[in-house]
Amino acid sequence: MTQTRKVGIAGLGSYVPERVMTNDDIAQMVDTNDDWIVQRTGIRERRIAAEHEDSGSMGSIAAQRALEDAGVDAADVDLILCATTTPDKPFPTTACHIQETIGAKKAGGFDINSACTGFVFAYNTAAQFVATGAYHNVLVIGTEKLSTITDWQDRNTCIIFGDAAGAMLLRPLEDAGRGELLDMSISTEGGQDDVLEVPAGGSRQPLGHEEIEQRLQYMRMGGNKVYKFAVSTFTRLVKKHVYAPYGIDDLGVIVPHQVNMRILESAQERLAIPDEKIFNNIEYYGNTAAASVPLAFDQAYREDRLVKGKLVMCPAFGAGLSWGHFLVRW
Ligand SMILES: CC(C)(COP(=O)(O)OP(=O)(O)OC[C@H]1O[C@@H](n2cnc3c(N)ncnc32)[C@H](O)[C@@H]1OP(=O)(O)O)[C@@H](O)C(=O)NCCC(=O)NCCS
Repeated sequence: MTQTRKVGIAGLGSYVPERVMTNDDIAQMVDTNDDWIVQRTGIRERRIAAEHEDSGSMGSIAAQRALEDAGVDAADVDLILCATTTPDKPFPTTACHIQETIGAKKAGGFDINSACTGFVFAYNTAAQFVATGAYHNVLVIGTEKLSTITDWQDRNTCIIFGDAAGAMLLRPLEDAGRGELLDMSISTEGGQDDVLEVPAGGSRQPLGHEEIEQRLQYMRMGGNKVYKFAVSTFTRLVKKHVYAPYGIDDLGVIVPHQVNMRILESAQERLAIPDEKIFNNIEYYGNTAAASVPLAFDQAYREDRLVKGKLVMCPAFGAGLSWGHFLVRW
């Protein structure tokens, strides 16, 4: 990638709703149990947004926290990119709602949707604006109220997902002082809707009584296909972008999309990554799609897991199929 200006990470922030839903709570709704869920996914609990909360309100809190961390005023934000699969409304964009809530008066903004890969794709987009010199302060947000598209009668999917938000403020490296962007990528492969999709509610199949009766407004997932795709993609991305050009000694920590503990452990084993070089929080938050990478990144930062001068690798994968990464030096 040709950069005219180096890109850095000036601020990090996140938000999780207060309500905790445990596996035992889910076992009251569908035929499952804590042991099965922990064994197959590593998830013990997830957060569920309150009725009055939406992706915009959660994203706004995460954004405010990232600005506070950077010491930058909302009035100085130039651009807001909001990655979400669960926008507040079909339009206007959730980025506009966040702009209004945080008071980023001079900013422009738009949404990016690539499901679980959304934040990484938004980061890739945001970094171009900073690298070219078009904008100085770019807020990248990943926010999801997945509980609204979760089928609470489907034990195959409802055990996996949760609600959350995370944000990053990107600035030129000379102002950010950390998180130098080294490499990033965006990839997709269409024609794989059966792996992971919400079948209805768009222009192809608008929501009518029949669709609602068949529960087509909710997520559907071919769990085994996702599993194989995620393990092989994670492994390939880390080999190609970390191990080949740098090596494991230069790696500080991998902060992956929190897809599922078994997937992460399987990839970790194949790559012989020691425990201290991978950050997981899926046990407590489940898979929060576009919010997952910035939430984990912020927590890794606050828990001092990012190693000064070493690499932080963020690989993500999800519906589309889609996959991508960004690699920074902390
Ligand atoms: C969803 C997932 C946990 C299912 O685990 P699995 O080991 O593949 O389980 P299977 O789908 O093969 O089902 C095995 C059995 O468990 C049952 N089962 C499925 N969900 C269950 C649940 N929540 N509780 C108890 N039993 C369950 C199935 O009905 C099946 O029973 P059967 O053998 O009597 O037919 C697993 O496929 C997975 O982790 N996939 C990736 C999902 C993911 O990460 N999605 C996010 C993408 S970004």
